[in-house]
Amino acid sequence: MSRAAQHVPVDARFTELARLTAGHPMMDAVIDEVRGRRIRIGEHWLVDYASCNYLGFDLDPQIQAAIAPAVSRWGTHPSWSRMLGSPALYPQIEERLADLLGAPDTLVLPTVTLIHMAVVPVLAGKGTVFYEHNAHRTIYDACQYARGLGATVRRFRAGDLTELERRLRAAPPGEPRLVCVDGVNSMTGNPPDLPAYARLCREYGALLYVDDAHGFGILGERRPDETSPYGARGNAVVRWFGETYDNIVLVGGFSKAYSSLLAFIAVPTVLKEHLKVAAPPYLYSGPSPTASLATVLAGFDVNDTRGDALRGRLYTLTARVLRRLRALGVATPNTSGTPVIELPLAPGRDLSTVASTLWEHGIYVTLAAYPLVSRADVGVRVQLTAAHTDTDVDQLLTALDTLTARGDLRMTGPATPRQARPSPNQLTGS
Ligand SMILES: Cc1ncc(COP(=O)(O)O)c(C=O)c1O
Repeated sequence: MSRAAQHVPVDARFTELARLTAGHPMMDAVIDEVRGRRIRIGEHWLVDYASCNYLGFDLDPQIQAAIAPAVSRWGTHPSWSRMLGSPALYPQIEERLADLLGAPDTLVLPTVTLIHMAVVPVLAGKGTVFYEHNAHRTIYDACQYARGLGATVRRFRAGDLTELERRLRAAPPGEPRLVCVDGVNSMTGNPPDLPAYARLCREYGALLYVDDAHGFGILGERRPDETSPYGARGNAVVRWFGETYDNIVLVGGFSKAYSSLLAFIAVPTVLKEHLKVAAPPYLYSGPSPTASLATVLAGFDVNDTRGDALRGRLYTLTARVLRRLRALGVATPNTSGTPVIELPLAPGRDLSTVASTLWEHGIYVTLAAYPLVSRADVGVRVQLTAAHTDTDVDQLLTALDTLTARGDLRMTGPATPRQARPSPNQLTGS
């Protein structure tokens, strides 16, 4: 064994995951080919239910065609930090995005992770940051970083406003208070009770920080002519609830519904200007490639013209799957109808065996393994996209029928105390 290998620390928590990653083709895979929503791994073709390209923009010819002209004009990569200079594509994106969200202003940086790590410590300062127990791992990490820089960090059970209020009341007065929650949760698929959080935060002078990486592009403002209960325009969870941005900071990403490497924070202009000097990724990090910027701008055009039709289609496909699960009596925390469907395993069932059954049925999913999730939540996560066909969904339903017949999936029954299980290890892989 090399000297470097001897220095790899052994952490028993990761043994299971390491075994799964090394031994199962559905983990750490190399994808050899993509055709629509079908992917080839070696000789095996599978329907992809692991990508988060919810609107199918990754495959959209109009969006793909926008990339080459932008690269010809701007080069492949701006390669200045944003502080040094931003191609005109940036202000175009920020203005269109602010307009879409109905937010005072926006700032874009390459990823949601970078935004959390940079912005949570700035907003928390030496005050207190509160995060819900099942918030995304990247929020948890940002809170730990803020703690290192002097903030006090408190966890509360997701949705438990009584506990949050008690904690807010106990926080020292006159210091910043930041409450961090997921928008559409990356595992349950459900949005939080945003109006209740917003009311509480306003009452206690706290800023509500919402990570809607999964909701942006899907949920949006409610309108009589909406094509589905997702609402219209995909302008994220704040608008879906008919809330204002008063005391709310919204963070979202383009890497899911918009199929591009870019993320945003919606803030008042005065805060944006402050972040331009205080948020390290603006000052020191490289920017997103030109292809990503062009993809986002073309994505706005498609969203304006076809977005609501795509969301209507996405809702229909998702509803088909949720209907079948209900008919089978299979448990899922998804009560919202968003296309993020987690399926916990029945007690004692083996994730690797379940994954093999799905593989044999030509179905590719996200494996939610321990310690990415708590042991009680181990299972699979399925994401629908507007680019799936009805035949793709037929194939998924057949696989779900098989898993159910074998007793692999948890069934509905007496309440599962899902909200009460603290785990800082939420699934991080998108
Ligand atoms: C809720 C949530 N927040 C943040 C992230 C990280 O986003 P990014 O890849 O833009 O850093 C993800 C997954 O990708 C996520 O699901």
